[in-house]
Amino acid sequence: MNGPVAATAPLTATRVVDALQEARRRTFALVASVSEDDLERVHSPLMSPLVWDLAHIAAYEDLWLVHRFGELPLLREDLAEMYDAFETPRAVRGDLPLLNPAQARAYLDEVRERALEVIDERGIGDGVLHEMVLRHEHQHDETMLQTLMLARLDGYELAGRRTMSPSPNPTYTGLELIAIPAGECTIGADGHGFAYDNERPRHRTDVRGYLIGRTAITNASYLTFVEGGGYQRREWWSDEGWAWKEEYDISRPGGWTADLTAEWRLGGVEPLHPDRPVIHVSWFEADAFARAHGARLPTEVEWEKAATWDEVTDPARPRARRYPWGNRKPAPGQHANLDQRGCGTAPVGAYPDGASPYGCLGMIGDTWEWTSSKFDGYLGFAAHPYREYSEVFFGGDYRVLRGGSWATRTRVATSTFRNWDYPQRRQIFAGFRIARSA
Ligand SMILES: [Fe+2]
Repeated sequence: MNGPVAATAPLTATRVVDALQEARRRTFALVASVSEDDLERVHSPLMSPLVWDLAHIAAYEDLWLVHRFGELPLLREDLAEMYDAFETPRAVRGDLPLLNPAQARAYLDEVRERALEVIDERGIGDGVLHEMVLRHEHQHDETMLQTLMLARLDGYELAGRRTMSPSPNPTYTGLELIAIPAGECTIGADGHGFAYDNERPRHRTDVRGYLIGRTAITNASYLTFVEGGGYQRREWWSDEGWAWKEEYDISRPGGWTADLTAEWRLGGVEPLHPDRPVIHVSWFEADAFARAHGARLPTEVEWEKAATWDEVTDPARPRARRYPWGNRKPAPGQHANLDQRGCGTAPVGAYPDGASPYGCLGMIGDTWEWTSSKFDGYLGFAAHPYREYSEVFFGGDYRVLRGGSWATRTRVATSTFRNWDYPQRRQIFAGFRIARSA
């Protein structure tokens, strides 16, 4: 199970083309049941209209696979600026003369046709740009699901929705802690396969002993916090967190109904399931919950060590696993709640086969997990292939999230992937687990 099976098979042009086409089918499936109106509407000031995401996926592919890799002129130079994430920030995207949904779909098709012609003619080179474009589309699919969640479209249906049937399990609350011994570990992506610049270089680091949650914090535990005055007890909140909570009158997680009995899921409201992880909480809320329990959020090094470090299989040669359960890619329905089709979180502990060597559960999938760490480059960081991917975000107020969510495509969800956002944000499918120094 934990043998030296490569997580990423060698890239060939055929595999790349198959993966690109599969990604596109998913993108179209996500919006298939959404009306033209809802594709064009700004559902939240934080998010782009869905139709912007669609055309942006095309523009990114035009730039990297047609223009930069294929050395051809951009197919639609006239659209490049409007669909460049940096030139055109989210706040203004609703006011632009965007392509309509039919035009955006046609743009996607035309760029794809040309990108495939380029692959036909010159192959995929080292495959890095193709993998980057593929993952970009996967990641925008998760962004579009965030938009769809905020849009609260009653009756939204994802084609191929899968009913989750997780194995029966002991009930966890998120408050059960596992002791992680002090000692060295390695952090970051190894040299094999694709990784983003901010995951590199892999490096050794020393960690003090600590305790970390076996699972993410559940709705039941969070409800106890809310009902116990969690949003009124000033001493549990940081100054910034309290100011944010007061200004926006925050009194419960982003998806919960006012009576605290139900939560929004994709497609409608469902009774609050006590064993599911709490989701759509900001870093501030996660931090306050942890303080209320005499705990804190884990650093991202603590998170990654708990997820990947294996001193059990061969104590003489401890090493990082690629995934908590080993080096094999996640198997659908076995290791983790990933890949969107579950349309929401599963009860914590629902995937015992996904346990890390220390016994932590659910570290990949279900919810992104806030860490206490601010986003920065590892020592020896080198921007690749462009500074705007991550370097321009270093040193700001961003906090790192780890692990991926139910809405993350399997290919993108790894133990070293680093996501980041502002501490007040709740549109991400984010929950958290707590930690404590030993
Ligand atoms: Fe993008």
